[in-house]
Parts: sequence; structure tokens; C-alpha cells
Amino acid sequence: MKLKTVFLLLLCLPIWLKAADNPIIKIETGNISLIYQVADNGRLYQRYLGKKLTHNSDFYYLPQGTEAYITHGMEDYFEPAIRILHNDGNPSLLLKYVSHTTRQADKGINETIITLQDDKYPVTVKLHYTSYDKENIIKTFTEISHGEKKPVVLSKYASSMLHLNRAKYFLTEFSGDWAHEVNIAERQLAFGKKEIDTKLGSRANMFVSPFFQLALDSESEENNGEVLVGTIGWTGNFRFTFEVDNENKLRIISGINPYASEYTLAANDVFRTPDFYFTYSFEGRGQASRNFHDWARYHQLKAGNQTRMTLLNNWEATYFDFNEDKLISLMDEAVKLGVDMFLLDDGWFANKYPRSSDHQGLGDWEETKDKLPNSVGRLVEEAQKKGIKFGIWIEPEMVNPKSELYEKHKDWVIHLPNRDEYYFRNQMVLDLSNPAVQDHVFGVVDRLMTQYPDIAFFKWDCNSPITNIYSPYLKNKQSHLYIQHVRGLYNVLERVKAKYPNLPMMLCAGGGGRSDYEALKYFTEFWPSDNTDPIERLFIQWGFSQVFPSKTLCAHVTTWNRNTSIKFRTDVAMMGKLGFDIKLEDMNTNEQQFCRQAVNNYNQLKPVILDGDLYRLVSPYEGNHTSSMYVSKDKNKAVLFAFDIHPRYAEKLLPIRLQGLDKDKSYHVKEINLMPGASSSLNGNDQVYSGEYLMNVGINMFTTQQLNSRIIEITIK
Ligand code: DGJ
Repeated sequence: MKLKTVFLLLLCLPIWLKAADNPIIKIETGNISLIYQVADNGRLYQRYLGKKLTHNSDFYYLPQGTEAYITHGMEDYFEPAIRILHNDGNPSLLLKYVSHTTRQADKGINETIITLQDDKYPVTVKLHYTSYDKENIIKTFTEISHGEKKPVVLSKYASSMLHLNRAKYFLTEFSGDWAHEVNIAERQLAFGKKEIDTKLGSRANMFVSPFFQLALDSESEENNGEVLVGTIGWTGNFRFTFEVDNENKLRIISGINPYASEYTLAANDVFRTPDFYFTYSFEGRGQASRNFHDWARYHQLKAGNQTRMTLLNNWEATYFDFNEDKLISLMDEAVKLGVDMFLLDDGWFANKYPRSSDHQGLGDWEETKDKLPNSVGRLVEEAQKKGIKFGIWIEPEMVNPKSELYEKHKDWVIHLPNRDEYYFRNQMVLDLSNPAVQDHVFGVVDRLMTQYPDIAFFKWDCNSPITNIYSPYLKNKQSHLYIQHVRGLYNVLERVKAKYPNLPMMLCAGGGGRSDYEALKYFTEFWPSDNTDPIERLFIQWGFSQVFPSKTLCAHVTTWNRNTSIKFRTDVAMMGKLGFDIKLEDMNTNEQQFCRQAVNNYNQLKPVILDGDLYRLVSPYEGNHTSSMYVSKDKNKAVLFAFDIHPRYAEKLLPIRLQGLDKDKSYHVKEINLMPGASSSLNGNDQVYSGEYLMNVGINMFTTQQLNSRIIEITIK
């Protein structure tokens, strides 16, 4: 070492020694480190986020980084995480470290709480982190409280603020509309801000989903490169802000969308933000998805470790046009298909304004006597006699103006008292900030379950965003509406879960308008889209699979896109949670027989498809084909799906190289789900290969046939 260097090092030593005294706070999982340190000014800085650092002695060399939870009004010139207006009109905040605690919450799960306080005002901010060691997920939220005499006003209140300092940032968002959900678009971030947000209130992610992928240095890849994937657990307005500053540093601020939502916080009340969850993968998007899938199944989803039921839904088979006899004969079809359950959809309720279309009846949750003279009870009994379960559709948060509920309880409806009403799907949103409305919504489930305790499943729909935005209940606190509405929903869902802990429920919002991990604490699955055209579904399922495991993704065989075969439609649906929404008369005998066999196959493969590791092999966005596979945790079983969408004439076809197998195990490869009487044209079908061969050489799964599909069962020999 040169003398000059030694001299410099000695000069720095006191600074390092001093810095070494300041608390270092490590939030760690198996692969990730998020490191904070208190600086000499008493403030908290994020010094590192990335691949796990295991040598504590290195921490002192880390750059100081950026303040962890930046406040408004101090020396930072970009977007803050929090803004608070004090009693004296001062809108600034300066947070200093007070203490932190870390405890093991469970095996492999650690919780850290960092407490920060302003030294001029009695404001406390607690940053919470839960790290899931094995799944490499970090969950964060913030608690804000104060001891000022009068309430303070919060106009920003992030769940999380993260900092990155890299050469390039590539953001992927998932946007769309009804029947056109989760379209994937990636773009490079440049100086300035990009926001992904929603202001829809309910049906919150009709236009954009509450998750993102952020690739570092180069565009995201499926199996390589660093990607941070984040999602917010909030079934309402959310916002992600990505801001690149003058030094090309990036901050990511995630939380409730503060739009039109200034929050007045009384002394000693705690404002608890929703949870933000993120993972950091060093092997591309694929590993990030698997991290989320595992974490969801083990730690977050309702009945995450349990299987799911196959079903026949009557929605597309009948729409509103049904009666008891028709439903009972559809149950017979469910039995023929071999599914577990019959699901009765919209249209079974209301008498003064019977629900014969979506123009009326919503809110009046009594069976329509003309349609169901013997009530839902008869249907439940019939289903039981036939050996299947019975599930039912509700949309309890909403009301049609043409309903008795609206006539009796206009004060329960979110509406502007002095303006014409604006309707979305002919309906309006009930004011869940009002406890009486919460009782009503809970009562919809509770009445049905009390009267018919054998109902085995609910599909909970939500077809409208909040329109006519004014809460009769909140009066002069209108800026609390978006937040209190969601909290009211959670109160109801909490009550439902407490009273009916084993009741599976599907979350639906006019298709995929609701899909977030807080809601999925209360729901076993969700309806990704009303679009069940299997080609579209290949894209939609690909999109949602980035964050959600297959057991949450309801996938039904319907008559959308009759140009595709029943086999193609069923093969696509078998990649998720299989169901049918079709009449048997829409299929010939051969096709019906095929579907029965497919349900059988699915039942055998459920443990792999629903609980295995997903490997997305060929993206539908990249060409004319797509393929994915699921591998059981012990690597003894796998299922491979392949689809030819629009192959080109004389196109060069390459084998698909599989992933996730054990290279030293031998696997039997067999095409299944063939039409009755058909034999496999797969080259190398019914042979045994090593995992090494399958992963390095691969199998020729694709064809030049339009709309062809294949499912391969791979079993250890
Ligand atoms: C929208 C849902 O997405 C559909 O599946 C169906 O349940 C209808 N609502 C019923 O109105």
C-alpha cells in the first residue's frame, strides 16, 4: 500500500469509527439485503438494497445512500414519502432515528420496526418490515401517529420508499381495460417521474394492475438479470411513483393514492398504511414469480395450502335467463363433466324489480319467487343429492337505483346530493364507510349461510368503480372516503372470514378489476377476466402469473372464440384453476367425453399445477407459440403445456428446453388430454429421458398447425 493511501485511510478512520457506532439495521432474506444506517445527523439512510451481503465488516464501506423515508419540507427536491400539516400551519417534517426492534415472528420470518420521530413536533413514524427468508419476500408498511393538540393533515403517506442507484432502469407495467387486462409493456425510465395509479375507488385495477417489475441495468429477462417486483395490498386507489433524479438515482414510492385523500389524523390515532410486498430476483422475472407464488401459498392467500374445486358456472350458459328446472339440469351437466361444484351466477334475486337484466334488482338479496319458487335451499339440496357442491354469486357492495334497497336507503349510496346521478353498468356503490352499510354487506353472506349452511362457495363480484363521489355518512370528511371505503370493505371481509373461516370465495370485479394480495387474504382465487377467448387468456394468464400462483387464477372453458377447439380451450384453462361456463349442448359427444377425461386428468395433475413451480418457457408476446410448465417441489412430476397460435408457413420450429427438472433423474414423457380416439403425433412420445436431456436438448412440442395445443405429463421413472 502506498504511503499516501495509508495516510488517507488513517484520516478516514475516525469517521468510520464514528459511523460504526451508529446503528445498522439489516432487513434480510435468504438472498436479499436491505441495509439501513443511522447517520451522524441522527437520520436514517438506506445504504444498500440488493444481493445479500454476508460480511458485516464490509458494511462500513457502503455509500451513505439516500434518506430512508423522505419527508416534505426539508432539503430534498424530489417526491417525498410523507407530508404532514402541523397544528401551527407548518408543513415540514424531519425524522430522526429513535430505536429499532427485531424479532423472529416465526421460523424463517423476521420482523423489524424502526421508530423515527421529529425533534420539533410530536410526530412518530414507524417503519415495519417483515422478511420471509425462504421465499425472499419483504413486506413493509408504515404507521404514522402524533401527539399534537388538534388533528394533523396527512397529504402523503407512503407504505414504502426504496432507493436504487444503477445505470439504467426498465419498468414493466400491466394495464388494459375490461376483457383486456394485464397487457405487458416495458419502458426505460429517464429523468423525472412515472406514476402508475388508479382513482377508481372500487373495481380499482380495471385499467392497471397493482404490481410492477423493475429491471436493473438492462431490460428484464425471464431467467437472467436483476428484477425488483413489487405489489401493494390495497383494494382501492393505489399509486406507485418512480422518480429518477438529477444523479440518475431512482426512488420508488408505493402506497395508497393520496389523490383527493388528505387525511385528518386525530392525536394518538395511528394511520396504518397498507402493506407493500416486494422481491428481488437475480435470475430474472421467472424466479421473482416463483418467490411470490410460494410466499402467497404459504403465508398470504386464504387457504393457500389447500386445493381448489373445479366447477360449472351458469353465467355464460344462461345469463339472466334461467329457472329452477334449468339450473337443476345444468347441475346434471356438472355431474357429467365430473366437476366438484355448480356455481349459480347473477340473476337469482329481487322481487319488486326482479334481476332479469343488469338494470335492476341489485341490492335486494331475496330469491326471485318466479325463478326459484323453492328458494336457494332447493338448489343446495339438489346439488347435494347429485354429489356436488353448490356455490353462489353475490355483488353485495352495489345497488341498482331500480331496487328496493335504493328506495329505502338512499343514504347508504355514494352519491352527490345536488347533481344528476351517473351510472356505471346501471348501478351505484354503497357507502362502506358507514357501519350500517357494512352490516348490510356482511348480512348478505350471513343470511345466505345461516339459511343454507351447505353453500360451499361464493363468487363476490364488484362491477362498478365509485361514481358520484360523495359519502352521505362522512359529511365534512369527504377526503376520507376512498380510504374509509376500503377499510369498511376489510371490516366486512374480516367478519366473513372470522365466522366462515373455511368458506372458499372467488374475487371478481367485472373480470379482473380486483386482484391484490390484501383481498386475497379473504379470497381463495380471483376471476382474471371476462374474456375467456383462449388466445386472449394465454396473454392474460401470462400477465397475472407474474405475481399470482395458478391456484388463484380461475380459468373457464366457454364458447368465446369458437374457432378454437374445445381441446385448445380446455388445455388453456387447465393451466389455472379449471372451470366450465358452457352448456353441454354446445359440444358434441366426442367433445363432452374429452372434457370429462380432461377433468379427470386435471384432478390427477392438480398438486403439480396448483402447488408446483411455474416455469414460463416461451412467451406469447415473442411469437406464434407459447409454452409453460409446472414442476412439483420434489421434481418427480411435471406438466408441460404448449400452444401454437398463428404459426407461419414453413416456420422453423425449435425444441422447447424444459426447466426445473433434476438433471440426473429419468423421466417418462407422455402426451395426455388427447381427443377420444386420437393418438399423439409428438415425436418421442412415451419415452424415457434424463432431466439433463430434457433441459438441454428439449422436446419438439410446437407444430405449424394453427391453434394446436399439447399437454405433456412428465413423471419420474
Ligand atoms: C361480471 C363477472 O365478471 C361475470 O363473470 C359475471 O359474474 C357478471 N358480472 C354477472 O353480472
